[in-house]
Parts: sequence; structure tokens; C-alpha cells
Amino acid sequence: MNGAAATPLPRFFRLVALDTVDSTNGVAHALAAEGAPEGTLVWARTQTAGRGRRGRGWHSPPGNLFLSALLRPDALPGEAAQLSFAAALAVHDAAAEILPSGVRTDLKWPNDVLVEGRKVSGILLETAETPGEARPALVVGIGVNVAASPPDAAYPATCLADHGATADLATVLAAVARGIERWYGRWRDGGFGPLRAAWLARARGVGDPITVRLPDASLDGIFVDLDPSGALILDAVGGRRTIGAGDVFFRTGG
Ligand code: BTN
Repeated sequence: MNGAAATPLPRFFRLVALDTVDSTNGVAHALAAEGAPEGTLVWARTQTAGRGRRGRGWHSPPGNLFLSALLRPDALPGEAAQLSFAAALAVHDAAAEILPSGVRTDLKWPNDVLVEGRKVSGILLETAETPGEARPALVVGIGVNVAASPPDAAYPATCLADHGATADLATVLAAVARGIERWYGRWRDGGFGPLRAAWLARARGVGDPITVRLPDASLDGIFVDLDPSGALILDAVGGRRTIGAGDVFFRTGG
């Protein structure tokens, strides 16, 4: 793929650059099954069946970034799921680095990156089996709207170019990869605490009224905090709730 050879990726990564795939997560699963090492990084120009959270699809036109990083953390899957926060921090910091100064970036629970309040990226963590390995590998799938945003997204969407970013895809890829290495390293060295603090420092809506959409219900309440595992603590009308998965919508502007 154009630009791949010039991409200054951290040495931690081994790049697999492809043109059209069904899903970079799907390719990463296949490589994991063959025993691919930690740091394998699948990058595709476009996806024909990009996968989103909760069974949704992911709009995948050329010009946007689609990658899946294969990690092999020494942790049980429940704990390794905290790495979705590492991925969100990586994308947030890359977007802040690439966008002109003054453009607002923040995080929406659990792992969406917002630019001026609109979703610019999505993260999908999946576990992947490797025959002969006791622990599953982790596929960290990341999509970043660089040049175009989806017309019909569940949450208002945007792309980096609409806010003045001019970086090419290889540059965005390298910035995200540096962030993954940095935040994965902090998690390995210090556990979830440093990631939780960094996430809260960049988060939108803590202390504010929000709505959390669950598969079969919608909960209104105040977003109080993250618990030590990354679950959202909500002071809801019927009492305090700890929520492990859901879609957050803000009820105040700004
Ligand atoms: C979301 O619904 O917010 C998560 C979307 C994740 C999309 C990325 S694009 C690269 C990787 N490959 C996929 O099929 N999905 C993820």
C-alpha cells in the first residue's frame, strides 16, 4: 500500500499492509490462529464488512484509517479488556497531535474519541484463540474517520479533515501506533490506575446528566465516575448503577 514503506512505526510493530479486506479484525484473527506475534499490525485501505460494536457495521471508505493490532497481554480476558481504554487514549492523543491547536478533542465512555463533540473513531476489542496458547490474544480494532464521516451514524460523526487536519494516512497510522505502544506499556507497568486517571482527565460528561442506552433499556442519570475496572458509575433515578457496556448520549450541550 502507498506510504507503508515510509511509515515510521515503533519497532514494537510488524506491519501487514493490505488493500481491500472484509475486516482488519478478521485478518488479525486469522494471523493470531497461525501464531502471529504480539505487535502484528494489520492496516487496510478499505474494508467490505467492517465490524462495529454491538453487531453494527463500520463505514469503511478509502481515505479513512482501518487497523487491528494483535496484543498478547499476560492477563485474563476480563482484565485485558481494560486495553480498550489504552486504544482510546492512543487515538485521542494522535488526533490532538494531528489537529490544529484549538480544536477540542475528548473521550466518551467507554472508548469513543470526539472532535468538537462528534465521534471520529471507533474501537472494537475481540479475543482471538491461538492453538497451543493458554491465553487468548487480543485484537484491538481501530477505525478513524480521517477523510470522510458516515452519513447515517447512530451518534453524530465527523472526520479529521473537516477540522483542518492535513496529515496523510501513514502519518495518522504512525501517531496511533505510537500511542498504542505508550499506553499499552503504561498498563503493563502500572495496571489500570494510570489509564483510568488519564482517561478521566480527557473525558466528557463526568458529573453531567447522561443517557446510557443498553440493548433492552435506556437509563438516565448523572455520570459519577469510572469504577476500578473501567465500568461507568451512574446515579440513576432508581439508584446507583454500575454499567459494563452501553452507548452514552449527553443531555447538555458543549
Ligand atoms: C464502533 O462501533 O464504534 C467500533 C468500530 C470499530 C471499527 C474498526 S475499523 C478497523 C477494525 N476492523 C473492523 O472490522 N472493525 C474495527
